[in-house]
Amino acid sequence: MNYKFSDKFVRLKPSAIREIFKSLGTPGSISFAAGNPNPESFPVAEMKRFADEIFENEPVAALQYGITEGYGPLRELITARLKRVYNIGAPDDDLIIVTGGQQGIELSCKVMCGEGDVVLCENPSFIGALNAFRSLGAKLAGVPLDGDGINLEALEQALKDTPRAKLLYTIPTFQNPAGITTSLEKRRAVLGLAKKYDILILEDNPYGDLRFSGKDVPTYKSMDAEGRVIYCGSFSKILSSGMRIGFLCANKALIAKTVVAKQVEDVHTNCLFQMICAKYLSECDLDAHIAGIRELYRKKAGLMLDALDRFMPREVSFTRPEGGIFLWCTLPDGVPLGEFVRRAGDKNVFVVPGTAFTADPDEPSQSFRLNYSMPTDEEIVKGIKILAEIAKDMIAKA
Ligand SMILES: Cc1ncc(COP(=O)(O)O)c(C=O)c1O
Repeated sequence: MNYKFSDKFVRLKPSAIREIFKSLGTPGSISFAAGNPNPESFPVAEMKRFADEIFENEPVAALQYGITEGYGPLRELITARLKRVYNIGAPDDDLIIVTGGQQGIELSCKVMCGEGDVVLCENPSFIGALNAFRSLGAKLAGVPLDGDGINLEALEQALKDTPRAKLLYTIPTFQNPAGITTSLEKRRAVLGLAKKYDILILEDNPYGDLRFSGKDVPTYKSMDAEGRVIYCGSFSKILSSGMRIGFLCANKALIAKTVVAKQVEDVHTNCLFQMICAKYLSECDLDAHIAGIRELYRKKAGLMLDALDRFMPREVSFTRPEGGIFLWCTLPDGVPLGEFVRRAGDKNVFVVPGTAFTADPDEPSQSFRLNYSMPTDEEIVKGIKILAEIAKDMIAKA
């Protein structure tokens, strides 16, 4: 059968990262490719106890259809936490529970962008979001990232050049893939540009709770006085990624439209896990749990940075994240990235090439992403040594 896929999907490639997952079965392989949280971050015993209690006491609520906006007690608990931790929540804001941040990103674009409208994004950016925008027929305009966030001159130029720009998608804190955090000054300037050119900001913040050094920077949403920011959060990196619970907080009018769009997609987010999540938030100390994850990632990031400092040739540069789960390495010009990634794979060390994260899939890259949340301490040191040997050899031959 010769299937004639829709124009939107015929161009979409499978995520390079999911593809790399398929080659990870080999014993002894070391993966810096995944974006998974460390399983130590899953509170298994509590989740089991809450699931048992729910099936004992409230089985119908867990098994029946729920409402699209989300499980009431969970919405209240998240709203309160957003206010307490991030000072987010204006009087005319509302909140919807979504099936992971991934769905929140996709729904936001779906309700705001028509075919041919443009989403501006950091370049590089999160592949799941880029593919969601592409799948909706939106056009992408990538804006380069500096060490302190999106390049402001390039952003303003893109806004001038792109009359159909509707949305700026940004991951301001511990960016995926680059591990970079946007400075407060830049956030203020970006908000000013969004106002000047009248676009919305979609602030994606799944890693914001995972700071292990430096000082918190206020979110865009907390500085938003006019309903211009859609805030997307997730429990994937702090409780469980398989649970698939995220949320959007935005002006009521935006959330009302998002509710309609979600009804079409999946009616509502999984009731049992919303109830388990609500019990966790009301009965356990999430902040203490997060403190444990931060400590784990502080150690792992430190170990990886230390190994990079010791073994990687100094022509290779890398970011020094203050939180989150990724860092971003850049090879010098003249060292072909594709060959580097292939040679690493031949030695059973897996990294994701920067080409997987570019707004324009044909744009070349000299960078690759390293994840430190999943590998063991031994794997981090051994894997970085292997990458450093390959880099040394290739630099010598370049
Ligand atoms: C930047 C970013 N946004 C959103 C997501 C989606 O997270 P989830 O759908 O699991 O909440 C991820 C997942 O890795 C991510 O890295």
